[in-house]
Amino acid sequence: EIESLPKVLTGTGSTKKIKLGVAVVGSESSWRAANTESIMTTANKDPAIDLLIQNAEGNQERQIAIIRNFIRSKVDVIAFTPFVESGWDEVLAEAKAAGIPIILTDRKVKVEDDSLWTTFIGSDFVEEGRRAARWLVENKKNVSGVTTIAELQGTSGSAPAIERRQGFEEVLSQQANFRIIASEVGDFTYASGQQLMAKIIAEGHVPQYVFAHNDDMALGAIKAIEQAGMKPGKDIGVISVDATKQAFQAMIAGKLNMSVECNPLLGPQIVKAAKELAAGKEIPVNIITAEGIFAQDTAKRDVTTRKY
Ligand code: AHR
Repeated sequence: EIESLPKVLTGTGSTKKIKLGVAVVGSESSWRAANTESIMTTANKDPAIDLLIQNAEGNQERQIAIIRNFIRSKVDVIAFTPFVESGWDEVLAEAKAAGIPIILTDRKVKVEDDSLWTTFIGSDFVEEGRRAARWLVENKKNVSGVTTIAELQGTSGSAPAIERRQGFEEVLSQQANFRIIASEVGDFTYASGQQLMAKIIAEGHVPQYVFAHNDDMALGAIKAIEQAGMKPGKDIGVISVDATKQAFQAMIAGKLNMSVECNPLLGPQIVKAAKELAAGKEIPVNIITAEGIFAQDTAKRDVTTRKY
């Protein structure tokens, strides 16, 4: 079982430092690349931290095996981004029994006993979904008739897919003139966005807007819209979540209409929390990132200060 795991990327095994085990969820998006880079850079330059980091490559069983491996290696703290919300009770109970505190980073879990994890560091995904919907409502306020929307969901069962959808629908359910005419499940990758958008168009739907649960899927959808001979951002509006540099380039090119910010640069907060937990300190249960939205009108200016 241990042999089949991806190799540990860094880590010296020093006993004096705080051993921090990080189980990365995968490599599905440019957001994830920035998130992993932020954790590695922050931890590797901190002399108090001995980082062990492994990538589950979008596989829950593998992520559980990585966490078990960290428990066996007697790390001081484990941080991980759960691939999906459920299925973590057993392994987290094992970590608790071993006295290892768990930091949930970026995504939350649904477990019977919330004392199995100590803190969550990340975004408010429900609010991100609301922000996307509010932008649509605001932009359509002087337009009569129904606004049709196709939704491209992220990984089935994952917190960002469930909660972004929830927030988006919550706001639109209070409006009479917005209709989701297609909703397809992807996996936060460019390829799934392209494939699902092509499928929606092939099935005869031409929505006025696409709401993609992340930028990579939105960029894939933009490609599919172009391949179908239409102009993304004009014939079909495109909105998404993350606000990566690539999304800004697409906004500047007029192909993406807006992106809700989701900040992946969580490394400093994770390392700070790991040190505090290792020192036996109490830390907040939820550490939520403050975020905004970005649209085409200010994209050219805002991209200059973008860090991911
Ligand atoms: O969990 C955060 C989401 O996962 C990001 O929005 C997405 O880009 C990533 O893959």
